[in-house]
Amino acid sequence: MPIRRFHIGEEYELFEVFHSAVHLVASRDYTPEQIDAWAPAGLDMELWARKIRDIKPFVAEVDGKVVGYADLQPTGYIDHFFVSGYHQDQGIGRLLMSTLLSQATTLGLRELTSDVSRTAQPFFEKFGFCIIEERAPKVRGVVVPNAFMRKLLP
Ligand SMILES: CC(C)(COP(=O)(O)OP(=O)(O)OC[C@H]1O[C@@H](n2cnc3c(N)ncnc32)[C@H](O)[C@@H]1OP(=O)(O)O)[C@@H](O)C(=O)NCCC(=O)NCCS
Repeated sequence: MPIRRFHIGEEYELFEVFHSAVHLVASRDYTPEQIDAWAPAGLDMELWARKIRDIKPFVAEVDGKVVGYADLQPTGYIDHFFVSGYHQDQGIGRLLMSTLLSQATTLGLRELTSDVSRTAQPFFEKFGFCIIEERAPKVRGVVVPNAFMRKLLP
């Protein structure tokens, strides 16, 4: 499965991945109110596109369709990490994480960090991340708890 950099023009495809990941998967661990605040259907697509171009994620593709994406900032911070709700448990998250880890090595980073949803915490733990702090950020006025996690790199 190819993992490559995001291309301009794919922003809406990434929104669909994000939206299905939150509504079909993270909805196990959050209330409907929290899910709607986190991934509203009527999200401003201009702002969304700007955000995606800003974080410059890697994307995973199956049959020419984007099924997952994740970014790595120069500081080692992972801002977005989502696999489509229709493509879970197929090793796509593992491939994306391996890409971020080898990119981190290339960049000489000492640590990776992320604010991780309840849903993704066991996945991040599997890859050696530890919880540093439980947090309760507000998203569009609604508290959506997550945890700040860190993985130290050799
Ligand atoms: C977390 C997420 C990215 C995992 O993606 P995925 O493609 O389903 O994961 P993979 O199939 O690559 O799984 C890799 C390994 O992690 C394990 N794993 C994945 N999700 C897990 C979970 N929630 N709990 C425990 N283990 C999990 C898998 O069993 C697999 O283990 P194995 O290799 O020993 O079989 C995906 O479930 C997701 O997008 N979740 C919802 C959105 C979200 O909360 N994103 C994070 C925002 S910070």
